[in-house]
Amino acid sequence: MNPNPDTERVIIFDTTLRDGEQSPGASMNLDEKLEIARALEQLGVDVIEAGFPIASPGDFAAVEAVAKASKRARICGLARSLPKDIDAAAKAVAPAGDRGRIHVFLATSAIHRQFKLNKAKDEIVKQAREAVAYAHSLCADVEFSPEDASRTEPEFLAEVVQAVIEAGAGTVNIPDTVGYAYPDDFAKLIEYLNAHVPNINDAVISVHCHNDLGLAVANSLAAVRAGARQIECTINGLGERAGNCALEEVVMAMRVRKDQFGHLQTGVISEHLYRTSRLVQSVTGLPLQRNKAIVGDNAFAHESGIHQHGVIKNPETYEIMTPQSVGVPTNNMVLGKHSGKAALVGHLTTLGFEMSEEHTERIMHAFKELADRKKEIYDGDLIALYEAVVRGRTISQWTMSYLHSAAGTSAVATATVRLEKDGEVHTDAATGHGPVDAVINCIDRICGVEGKVEDYRLRAVSHGRDALGEVSLRVQFTGARSAIGGKGLSTDIIEASAIAYLDAVNRLSFEQDRLQGAGEP
Ligand code: KIV
Ligand code: ZN
Repeated sequence: MNPNPDTERVIIFDTTLRDGEQSPGASMNLDEKLEIARALEQLGVDVIEAGFPIASPGDFAAVEAVAKASKRARICGLARSLPKDIDAAAKAVAPAGDRGRIHVFLATSAIHRQFKLNKAKDEIVKQAREAVAYAHSLCADVEFSPEDASRTEPEFLAEVVQAVIEAGAGTVNIPDTVGYAYPDDFAKLIEYLNAHVPNINDAVISVHCHNDLGLAVANSLAAVRAGARQIECTINGLGERAGNCALEEVVMAMRVRKDQFGHLQTGVISEHLYRTSRLVQSVTGLPLQRNKAIVGDNAFAHESGIHQHGVIKNPETYEIMTPQSVGVPTNNMVLGKHSGKAALVGHLTTLGFEMSEEHTERIMHAFKELADRKKEIYDGDLIALYEAVVRGRTISQWTMSYLHSAAGTSAVATATVRLEKDGEVHTDAATGHGPVDAVINCIDRICGVEGKVEDYRLRAVSHGRDALGEVSLRVQFTGARSAIGGKGLSTDIIEASAIAYLDAVNRLSFEQDRLQGAGEP
């Protein structure tokens, strides 16, 4: 089955919940995955790869829950070319009905055949063919990926691709697994497959590019121009190592440079890009660099006077797309102390955020507290507040109920912290090299962990001396596989630092649970 009879449509296959989650420290819990899946559907992606069901019971449950909750997108589960993986993927995507997809993969390059699989070429072809045929007996929509395709001999790759299409694959994905491809060569590889695989028109050609050389978006675009009709990508370019092709970049490149793509288009609603990016940053605790294309804080900021002057006269002097076209909020003052619930809900709804009754009450409470401390409340404040209130709870185990810190030029910094967990209250005090260090030492003592802060960033989410400060940090805990991210928000930056560190502590135990029993794709 070729799932793309519409050849003018480039299918956007989002793998934030699978490859994106393989970014070190980017683990998400089930509620968070559901929230991201909902946002991805609103964004208009065509396929959501929701996870790798055999990897762990948590992964299985997440794919199944996303399949159940989904309304429009195809829901995909990853599987090695093994019957037990395929059975798990079929079962997990089953609630999506005929929108379910199984994504089967097997490495094909010489280096993987020799060192990873210890298999000859004919064994690879046989295993791939059998796996696809088996998956197809359980699910009509099957995708196959010859892992490390870009380093596979083109003749052998063509042989594998032909075999899996014969066996029932409706999509054949060509991964640049290690981010080695170069745009011209990668386009030629797609052209080669189009020319040398006799049944290629029975399947959609997909690409899945990693960003090790910073070429993932360029390679994906080159492949589309050469005939690929599905792009695998992630929000914010999350993914293994240097990440995957960034969805927001590839989509906007196709939109802004229509001249390069004829009638080809994606179904993504670009006005949702900013908020989806923010959601993923907030859930994973992985902040973006300010100058990140499309969704970074500086993407539409004009610093030099000459630029500002030009933009005021005509935005097109220095802007190739408008901030509105990707949903970047304006920095106008929107609400204040006297604004009521209806205004708050109305404004957040306009910004695209959904709220249950319970969330509304909590946000209203936090909004009033903030309005007492801060006169003017901007879009940026509201988004940050929403993320902290709605999302901050989903992963909490430890919560902070009291913080006092003292520091000065010639005084030893001290902190007293009270934390609660499972109804028990723990209070302790510590000193440190400055108030943040003292607070962190105190949290370490109470929680029984030892963390080294590898990265610490503080940004003001809006204007003014009373702006909310958002702290994003990454912590390497003793015994943890990789550094873990955390975020905190407050008008008091010591408190924001404490919340961010505690967020990382809470994510540590969540990540440890998730990794128990997980396999590597
Ligand atoms: O990078 C890769 O090759 C993958 C496959 C599983 C598609 O993620
Ligand atoms: Zn990948």
